[in-house]
Amino acid sequence: MKRRKFLGAASLTSIGLFFSQYVNAKADLPLEKSNIPAKDEAKPIIISTWNHGMAANRMAWKVLLKGGTSLDAVEKGVMLTESDPNNRSVGLGGLPDRDGNVTLDACIMNQKSQCGSVGYLQEIEHPISVARKVMEDTPHVMLVGKGAQDFALSKGFEKKNLLTPEAKAEWLQWKRDQMKKPRINSENHDTIGMLAMDKDGNISGACTTSGWAYKLPGRLGDSPIIGAGLFVDGEIGGACATGMGEAVIRIAGSHTVVELMRHGHSPEEACKLAVERIRKKHEDLKDLQVGFIAMNRAGKVGGYSMYAGFNYALKDAENDEMIDAKYDLEW
Ligand code: GLY
Repeated sequence: MKRRKFLGAASLTSIGLFFSQYVNAKADLPLEKSNIPAKDEAKPIIISTWNHGMAANRMAWKVLLKGGTSLDAVEKGVMLTESDPNNRSVGLGGLPDRDGNVTLDACIMNQKSQCGSVGYLQEIEHPISVARKVMEDTPHVMLVGKGAQDFALSKGFEKKNLLTPEAKAEWLQWKRDQMKKPRINSENHDTIGMLAMDKDGNISGACTTSGWAYKLPGRLGDSPIIGAGLFVDGEIGGACATGMGEAVIRIAGSHTVVELMRHGHSPEEACKLAVERIRKKHEDLKDLQVGFIAMNRAGKVGGYSMYAGFNYALKDAENDEMIDAKYDLEW
């Protein structure tokens, strides 16, 4: 091939490559791009994971109705779940680790990327409020273990036994029945994750859990990890995760969802793509339930899970309902 012809062919190939990359990049985008409108078009809305989200949303809604911020709303909302002794996966009444200790993980984040987190916190009923104190009263983001508890006590939180008689009985039964490895199933990973948008269009999120039932002592899940259990970017939106925290951490799940929204995906598509990324990274999907919820700055919401059965609660001026998330796999 003569030099000029070769160069011509080469540059045509480059142009072709350039355009095919462009076309491929475009093909990655959803059919309907999520435009992110100005904040004044947004209306207050709250979503949170699982059925316990209904009561938590209503509590958070009261805060928004009084003109409170989304940060106040998500804190107050999930505090209700933390205090529910009948909930086996969050706060008081949560199932303990394999040694019988209830250890709590939580984090909170607002639209300015301010965030706080606590992990492996014991005997404090409201880890979400301690996480907020970490955010507001310290130069740090995350406190864990005894340091987190000492910090909480210094801020006026009181110690409380969080292992209810019912949760203790379930733990003792587990010890009698199995005690081989921590149980993994869809029921014991139902963290509450909540996202709220206030009247000013600001989004905040909160995430709180007692974690994987009968976990190894010292285990942290995704819930206290900013970017895994929760992520908010005021320019884009927010996301929360529920389910097997280890899998969520491996792909920085909530951050991934927000970044996918940044690249034009709708909240539901972003959650689905994050679930698909988890699928690709795991050969064994048995019992690997994970779910995401997301909200963009326009107040559009969505969710998606690996397995059937994940649902989330939605509250706004017109709606107060549970939504079944779409999913990839049947159990
Ligand atoms: N997603 C909660 C946990 O794995 O601890």
